[in-house]
Amino acid sequence: MFVELYKEMKIFLDTANIEEIKRACETGIVDGVTTNPSLLSQDANDPIEHVKKIAEIVKGPVSVEVTATKKEEMIVQGKSIAEISPYIVVKIPLTEDGISATYELAKQGIKVNVTLIFSPSQALLAMKAGAEYISPFIGRLDDISQNGINLISDIVKIKENYKFSSKVLAASIRHPVHFAEVAKAGADVATVPPKIFWQLFKHPLTDIGLKKFLEDWNAKFKNGIK
Ligand code: E4P
Repeated sequence: MFVELYKEMKIFLDTANIEEIKRACETGIVDGVTTNPSLLSQDANDPIEHVKKIAEIVKGPVSVEVTATKKEEMIVQGKSIAEISPYIVVKIPLTEDGISATYELAKQGIKVNVTLIFSPSQALLAMKAGAEYISPFIGRLDDISQNGINLISDIVKIKENYKFSSKVLAASIRHPVHFAEVAKAGADVATVPPKIFWQLFKHPLTDIGLKKFLEDWNAKFKNGIK
């Protein structure tokens, strides 16, 4: 029997900005991208060509959301979105129609990311429908004085109770503390806007420490090791 020895939290970028995606992917630690209709409306002229380009850059899961709201239309749209590239994951909002469409698409082997999840019960419905990813939005909950991190912990617990295979994708992350907290809560993926991605690298003591190391080295040795 295969035993999972370690589990990695994946990092996705929450943006449709090609330049930002290229720059962040150069670090080697970006695993995927999430878009939504608002993000694509900011950065894309031709959404299909745009997400194709994103997929070629990141070479990992790229979530692209349906804009239909009725089950049958969601399925049709979901199928054509899935054909854009093998990396595409169809994003579907958590509504009654959305859950039925997720069930049908998942049955046909299409990967679905159920989005706009704000409660543990909604998450359970999406996992049961066969979603590949489920996206609880933590920042938007904090905005209305509810605890977004608790939502991630609750969902991870439910997933583990029943051994659901869906991946918990923490979304609507607004700052580096959110990022660390969702990792502590056991999220499978954290999707972060580029600004937060770069903030994750920063600590003033790192800058101060590096400056001192280089000053000491250069004072004695002049050149670096070849
Ligand atoms: C996730 O897939 C969404 O695109 C995103 O995280 C929403 O974040 P926001 O609440 O900052 O808009």
